[in-house]
Amino acid sequence: MKVDVLLGLQWGDEGKGKVVDVLTPRYDVVARFQGGPNAGHTLEFNNQKYVLRSIPSGIFQKGQVNIIGNGVVLDPILFAAEARDLEKSGFDIKKVLKISKKVHLILPTHRLLDAAYETLKGSAKIGTTGKGIGPTYTDKISRDGLRLGEVFGNFTEKYQAAKQRHVKLLNALGFDADVAELEKQWFEGIEYIKTFELIDSEHVINGYLREGKSVLCEGAQGSLLDVDFGSYPFVTSSNTVCAGACSGLGVAPNKIGEVYGIFKAYCTRVGSGPFPTELHDEVGAKIRDIGHEYGAVTGRERRCGWIDLVALRYTIMLNGVTQLIMMKSDVLDGFETIKACDSYKVNGVETRDFPYSIDEGVEPVYTELKGWNTDMTKIQSEDEFPQEFKDYIAFLEEKLNVPITIVSVGPDRLQTIERKH
Ligand code: GDP
Ligand code: IMO
Ligand code: MG
Repeated sequence: MKVDVLLGLQWGDEGKGKVVDVLTPRYDVVARFQGGPNAGHTLEFNNQKYVLRSIPSGIFQKGQVNIIGNGVVLDPILFAAEARDLEKSGFDIKKVLKISKKVHLILPTHRLLDAAYETLKGSAKIGTTGKGIGPTYTDKISRDGLRLGEVFGNFTEKYQAAKQRHVKLLNALGFDADVAELEKQWFEGIEYIKTFELIDSEHVINGYLREGKSVLCEGAQGSLLDVDFGSYPFVTSSNTVCAGACSGLGVAPNKIGEVYGIFKAYCTRVGSGPFPTELHDEVGAKIRDIGHEYGAVTGRERRCGWIDLVALRYTIMLNGVTQLIMMKSDVLDGFETIKACDSYKVNGVETRDFPYSIDEGVEPVYTELKGWNTDMTKIQSEDEFPQEFKDYIAFLEEKLNVPITIVSVGPDRLQTIERKH
């Protein structure tokens, strides 16, 4: 068997959580492969709304195994809060959730370092989620990280050594390093995590594949936040592209099957960094308002703009996307005109290729399409789509050269339309 991968093609918050939940009944296993509690994946069903941060979005369907893979960074405090909330809501997650022993732990001092680095950057700050993601991955790469599997050895000693190193660093940079309260919660979180099944996820996942079980890998963030290919340095600290599923789960590249690329019918971004199609006018404000474009975790305003096909072609290429999924189509229901950027003018020269930098001198060139001015939120099948929306889909498929197989017309599980192709 092969593994299918679902990932975001823009700057995150495309609606990954909703679609993973919808697709989960077709799979035996759902696995997160990178990122950490910087993610906020929202799911809605039966008039309930859930936001998941470290736990895979397959957790609410019946019977699937959910795995937190080795590429993830885990904060015991936030994980315990998230998991306990689910337990309180009646989901017996201990039965179905397994965690890789190779996940790197986010220490309380990683959070402080994240905040300190942001302060030091001043107006050049990245606008991180403040969850300690960057410093934790930094420690992993510099071979100073603390892995969950250490709980079976001299864990406290290793924790103290890492903490002391962070405290020295924080003090040298002129910051306080008082984590007494957080540390207590952190160790409580560790004890709670120990009540879950801690696994060698690479062996477990490859074992499932040998048994003929199907696996869906769930990405976090989006390809334009990838540490290599995103709008560096305004990116996250992991590989959010498809290759991250290989390194973040121990799955070989020739085991990748379908790659679902998910995008909004427009575009958003949270935090700092370039965004060529950003709208600073009332149109952007209208998209934000109708689309409730505020961070699922931080509540921060998301910046809004028109769809960027130059960027999408780039991320489709990087990921080898085989199927596209368009989200939040209903948010554009009330617009007379819809714009799509199919090329950039870079310092006056028109290009359809994504340039090295989209920092400065990049001007979007738009194609205008007629809006559909129809409420699509109750539509059940593609035959009911208004003609102008069908035209929008056809236009995107022609420009992106990959079929759009699923269209989402609302946040609920049921507001999902599969297209015949
Ligand atoms: P993720 O991080 O990719 O899982 O996405 P988020 O959960 O951060 O953000 C997506 C937001 O859009 C959530 O509030 C979802 O409930 C909501 N959502 C998802 N799909 C749709 C849709 O088709 N229409 C509308 N109106 N909202 C949607
Ligand atoms: P999901 O999985 C949107 C952004 C932050 C910041 C940058 C770096 O819900 O789509 P970090 O805390 O990772 O060091 O922040 O990345 N960012 C996200 N934006 N959705 C996310 O996750 C994000 N995770 C990180 O806003 O600009
Ligand atoms: Mg999100």
